[in-house]
Amino acid sequence: MPLLAIETSCDETSAAVIDRGCVLSNLVSSQIRLHAEYGGVVPELAAREHLRNLAPVTRMALQRAGVTAEQLDAVAATRGPGLPSALMVGLKAVQAIAFALRRPFLGIHHHEAHLYSPWLKRQPPIADFSQFRPSVSLIVSGGHTILVHVRSELDHRLLGSTVDDAAGECFDKTGKLMGLAYPAGPEIDRLAQGGNPTAFDFPRPMIDDPNDDFSFSGLKTSVRYFLRDHPDLLQDAQRARDLCASIQAAIVDVLVTKTIRAARRLRVGCITASGGVTCNRALRQRLASTCERQRLALMLADTDFCTDNAAMIGILAERKLSLGRAPTSLDADILPNWTLE
Ligand code: KG4
Ligand code: ZN
Repeated sequence: MPLLAIETSCDETSAAVIDRGCVLSNLVSSQIRLHAEYGGVVPELAAREHLRNLAPVTRMALQRAGVTAEQLDAVAATRGPGLPSALMVGLKAVQAIAFALRRPFLGIHHHEAHLYSPWLKRQPPIADFSQFRPSVSLIVSGGHTILVHVRSELDHRLLGSTVDDAAGECFDKTGKLMGLAYPAGPEIDRLAQGGNPTAFDFPRPMIDDPNDDFSFSGLKTSVRYFLRDHPDLLQDAQRARDLCASIQAAIVDVLVTKTIRAARRLRVGCITASGGVTCNRALRQRLASTCERQRLALMLADTDFCTDNAAMIGILAERKLSLGRAPTSLDADILPNWTLE
């Protein structure tokens, strides 16, 4: 049953074709370069770019999958959360396709889709839900840092989220203070490889709090004061690498400590992680070593599926339809502030 999925919640225009858990195609057109000169995503520009790219990206996804529009059995799009004008482009286009083809349509929660992306494995990628087990799931991106208890398939409970900046935002904003281009996360990851993570001691906000919430704006502020007090530090390439490694260590420490603690408390045997920051090598390594020590299974989204993509939207939509969930109305609206509950 081929299904077409579209994702346009932020700055990636993506289209994918899924068939029985298999990703036949997954195209992602990133707008990173467009937004880089503004130091962050500009919603109006994002929406215009989605409008320009959606048709060619969708056509190409169908072509690569070897599937015609008439052969599709269902269609899906991200309904929220995300930038309103960006979500609108994908959702309304897919509702129009569903209407024209007379096929069922599903509006998908972007974070719920992230929850299932770690189960996409192998080449070509296929979602293997036979391996599915209850987990604590970390979703960590430029806009969100959330911890979720996935009790069983399609049954989850939000445990906590960031009270201010997301972890990716913290990478991006501290990188900006250091003069790095947006988004700074990948560059901090690269520079940190040659740095000493214990060179500078930055705060680990809320690490010992008994809740599952996160906070990263205090860390950003302490980096700002640190740079004010050490104005020449960035002239020294090694010290700059040490700074990147130390900031990264603080972020990773908080993320891993709180995720593992939640898993222990809830007595689940599996941790999963997805979202753009899950590309971070230190985070992947630290999760892997800690889970191994604590005998917890770890499912990390492949780096192709960490950042926003339509494949994860399609996998979840197909799963919902096959488990008998009702389609979404063709005049349903976007839900920019949709919570996971
Ligand atoms: O999930 P994503 O593509 O978009 C949303 O925010 O929804 O995540 C983008 C975020 C950015 O903040 C970027 O700096 C961060 O993920 N990121 C990384 C790495 N790759 C992407 N942060 C740290 N290390 C990385 N390797
Ligand atoms: Zn995302």
